[in-house]
This record gives sequence, C-alpha cells and structure tokens, in this order.
Amino acid sequence: MNDIDACVFDAYGTLFDVASAAKRCRDDLAGKADELAALWRTKQLEYTWLRSLMGDYADFWQITGDGLDFALDTLGVDDAVLRDRLLNLYLELDAYPEVPDMLDRLTAGGIQCAILSNGSPDMLASAVDNADLGKYLTDVLSVDSLGIYKPDPSVYQLAVDTLGIRAERICFMSSNAWDVAGAAHFGFRVNWVNRFAQKNERLSGVPENEFKTLAELPGLLGL
Ligand code: 2OP
Repeated sequence: MNDIDACVFDAYGTLFDVASAAKRCRDDLAGKADELAALWRTKQLEYTWLRSLMGDYADFWQITGDGLDFALDTLGVDDAVLRDRLLNLYLELDAYPEVPDMLDRLTAGGIQCAILSNGSPDMLASAVDNADLGKYLTDVLSVDSLGIYKPDPSVYQLAVDTLGIRAERICFMSSNAWDVAGAAHFGFRVNWVNRFAQKNERLSGVPENEFKTLAELPGLLGL
C-alpha cells in the first residue's frame, strides 16, 4: 500500500482484547466466561447501533455496563461485586501481543498513528495508558463528541478533520467486519484484521487486504 500518511486503528477487538475481562474472571463465572464474553460484546454493539438509529445517545461506558447487565441476567449470574469487577476490567484490557512492536515500526517509519473508537474518552485513555501505547499515538479519537456511533460516516470524517489528512491517504484497520465495511464505504483505505475467522459481510465497502494479526501491517506499507 503506497501513498499512506496515517494509520488509524479501531480500539476494541483490534488493538485491545475485549474478551480478556471475562477471561480474568473465569474462575468466578463457573464455565460461562466464553458465553458471557460473546453475549456481552454482541449486546454492547447492538446498543450502539440501536441508540444511533433512535437518536438516543449514551456513552460507551454506560452501553458497556448495560450490555454486561443483559448478559449476566441472561446467564442467571446475580453478583453485583463480580459485575463491577468485570466492568472495571474494561479499563485495563490487554493489548494484543503484536501491537506495541507494530506501532513502533510504523512510527519509526514516519507513519502517523491514531485511534478512532466508539469508546468514551476516559475508557480509551485508561486502556491506552494501561497498555503503554500513548507514545505511539498522535490522537485518540472518540465518537463521544459527535453523539453517534460507527458506522455513521461522521465518525470516520472526524479522523479526516482532526488529522487534516484526506480519506484516501488514511489506512484504517479494524477486526470488526461491519466497521471495515463502514470505513471502506466512507472512503478510507481499509485492512481487515480478521482475528476471529469471520466470513465476509454482505455489505458495500470491502477491505484491500485481510490478515490475522497486525504484525503483517508494517510490511504491507514497505516498513
Ligand atoms: C470500537 O469502536 C468498534 O467497539 C469498537 O473500538
């Protein structure tokens, strides 16, 4: 990929392992950790889309808590202490192992790097600080200032406006196939980090490349 001035990354599922919160509470979840992680994530995303369509914005911290409450209720887990522990672990999710070295190679090669995420500013600041990624990022952009979620085009436009870089010179990465479709449809050049072996969405907006981890990205940019 040539003529790229910046790499912009989705956060949850792409840089940060959203399942790591439930994994750390595996012993308290009596074999339900994987089911909880999946249901929690699905409901969290559903609420972002539904609230965007309803024009009823709430920030990602509230939505993440609401999705967790739905998942725990569905699985019959009634434990307020465990619920708060799970939610607060979202503030210190693990970064995927290849992320720091990948960002280091990009920035050393003169590529500007940023985050564009549904996450609230406080959530993102906490996750970035916890993973010590701040030194690689010029901007950590949240939808919160817009009051609407991905894949609304105004979210991707926020990166163009903030970075002052045309969409076609921004390379966007996400593990979420629907986010990939939204970003490509908007006009970014997009790579899909297909960590979970998902099938292709039947949506307009397709990625230029697909890989399993972000370790392949620097080489794709000639770095
Ligand atoms: C993010 O915006 C899509 O949740 C994902 O970080």
